[in-house]
Amino acid sequence: MAKSAAQFVCSACGSVFPKWAGRCEACGEWNTLEQEVARPALPGGMKVAPKSGRHKIEFVGLEGKSPPPPRIPTTIAEFDRVLGGGLVPASVVLVGGDPGIGKSTLLLQASAALGRAGKQVLYISGEESIDQIRMRGARLGLSSAPLALAAATQLGDILSSLASYPDAALVVIDSIQTMWAEGVDSAPGSVTQVRAAAFELIRAAKTQGFALMLVGHVTKEGALAGPRVLEHMVDVVLHFEGDRGHQFRILRGVKNRFGATDEIGVFEMTGAGLAEVANPSALFLAERRGNVSGSAVFAGLEGSRPVLVEIQALLAPAPGGSPRRSVIGWDSGRLSMLLAVLETRCGLKLAMYDVYLNVAGGLRVSEPAADLAVAAALISALQDVPTDPSMVFFGEIGLSGELRQVAQSELRLKEAAKLGFAKAASPRRVAGGAGRLAVPPTLGLVELGHLTDLVAVATGGVKGAAAGVRQTGQA
Ligand code: TYD
Ligand code: MG
Repeated sequence: MAKSAAQFVCSACGSVFPKWAGRCEACGEWNTLEQEVARPALPGGMKVAPKSGRHKIEFVGLEGKSPPPPRIPTTIAEFDRVLGGGLVPASVVLVGGDPGIGKSTLLLQASAALGRAGKQVLYISGEESIDQIRMRGARLGLSSAPLALAAATQLGDILSSLASYPDAALVVIDSIQTMWAEGVDSAPGSVTQVRAAAFELIRAAKTQGFALMLVGHVTKEGALAGPRVLEHMVDVVLHFEGDRGHQFRILRGVKNRFGATDEIGVFEMTGAGLAEVANPSALFLAERRGNVSGSAVFAGLEGSRPVLVEIQALLAPAPGGSPRRSVIGWDSGRLSMLLAVLETRCGLKLAMYDVYLNVAGGLRVSEPAADLAVAAALISALQDVPTDPSMVFFGEIGLSGELRQVAQSELRLKEAAKLGFAKAASPRRVAGGAGRLAVPPTLGLVELGHLTDLVAVATGGVKGAAAGVRQTGQA
């Protein structure tokens, strides 16, 4: 037997090196190199088989008939939306998320739903005992669902057992970090183990034709623990996120070989498991109080889905020299930029205040379109006058205080109208811009040219507002 050579793999980026070093040369992370013994059968150390080259591969044209992949709906609509319409047979889905966020709960519910729809589902847990899973099942009211449960971590045993279930439609592995491949000289959870176990399981899924769902833990930096190589090996990567202090959870598509990414599914963690939230805006706005200064509603977009959220700002006098800027749910660099623009272009005096900004409900907003709502909340806090409670805001703000159009305005307006808002403040459309905007009949559109217009609109109504404001829609 050839002596297998040691090599070192970076747990952050998956790069392979012949020698150990304190810092990965490829991605610059410290202390991420782990030793592994190269195994010829694994993708990292794959060698060309000696007898290859005898078969010619066939090239085909781009045009041609290939049917869309078949789908198995999980019957959990929020889950199916993120998957792109259901599970694709023989595909591999990686579900990542913080410990305790609800991954096992979600997958048990999805497995039970598929089981009840007549599909054969195998649920293998390396983290919990059968008793613990049964207890959770009982709590979720799923005890009667047809499901094949097992508590196992030995990869060899799992693979040989899977072979005797040729009709399995779905196999769940909770979690890939607990799996242990014999013959690989490193601890479960190490890059080498995770990669080897995932490789073997994926191969089984592709040959046997079942859909495979892998649970993956997330490191404190937010990346899927261990190898990012795992993300390359699978077809779909989903992140299950949320704030443990809040009850709602978001399932976010990060990669999808069979559908759009950037879709979200919204769930609420209840005493009886995860409940689907068909109308997330209503959930995020549920605790909004009218008539409080420093609050503005942002008409946002998550994937293809409009979501209204409340942005809250609080200003407190900063007696010392350097005021604090504290942000939850938004980018702090962007807040600093907005504060500078409000000071310099609109003459607002914000420098002597500590600024606290919060996206209510624990959602993380990453769109620049939130600029206008954040600015409105800040202006309202500074003037201590509530924003118009019937108004939503969206639009991007540039460094000279100019307002810029954002994508999907119509979707945002429709959602605002659906939830009973009467006005929407947004950047003015450029003359001759891309077509007409369909504004719902119950909604008045307040178009703003410059950030200074917002100062008048946000807190004072539009009556005597600056000349740059144009109001359309509702009389
Ligand atoms: P879990 O699915 O075990 O998380 P993960 O697999 O991501 O680590 O979820 C655990 C949390 O969910 C736990 O803190 C309790 C909560 N929970 C509920 O609130 N209601 C429920 O019905 C269940 C099953 C769990
Ligand atoms: Mg779990």
